[in-house]
Amino acid sequence: MSSYVILKHLHMTTAFLTVILFTLRLLMDAVGRPGWRQTPLRWIPHANDTVLLIAAISLLVVGSWNPLEQSWILAKIVLLLGYITAGLFALKVTVPRPARVVAAVLALVQVSAIFHLAMAKPVLF
Ligand code: HEM
Repeated sequence: MSSYVILKHLHMTTAFLTVILFTLRLLMDAVGRPGWRQTPLRWIPHANDTVLLIAAISLLVVGSWNPLEQSWILAKIVLLLGYITAGLFALKVTVPRPARVVAAVLALVQVSAIFHLAMAKPVLF
C-alpha cells in the first residue's frame, strides 16, 4: 500500500472518530453527565483531531494538492475552523444551554459539509 493510501485511511478513520467523539460528548452533556470531563474522554478527542490534521497536511504534501487551486480543500479548511469554534461553544459549560444547542447544530452541519466536500470534490470557484 502506498504512503498516500495509508495516510488517506488514517485521515478518514480519524474523520469518522471526530464526529463520533463529538456526538458522544454532546449526548453525555444532554443526559446530564458532564463528568466525562474528568475521564480520558477529555483528551482523547484532542489527540484524535491532532492526528486528523497531521494526516490532512501530509495528504496535501504527499499528494501535491494545492488548496489555492482546489476550492473544495480551501472550503474544507474554512469549515474546519467553523467546526472547531462552534464545537468549543457547544461543549463549554459556562455558555447558556440554548446557545450551546445552536452551536452544536452549527458544528454538525459544518462537519457534514466537510464530509460532502471531501467525497464530491466540487469545483466551487
Ligand atoms: C473535520 C475535518 C475533516 C474531515 C471530517 C475530513 C474528511 C475526509 C474524508 C471522509 C476524506 C475521504 C474522501 C473520499 O472518499 O475520497 C477526506 C480526504 C481528504 N481530505 Fe479531509 N477531512 C477533514 C479535514 C481536512 C483538511 C483540513 C484538509 C486539508 C488541509 C483535508 C484534506 C484532504 C485531502 C487532501 C483528502 C484526499 C482526497 C483524495 O485523495 O481523494 N481534509 N477527508
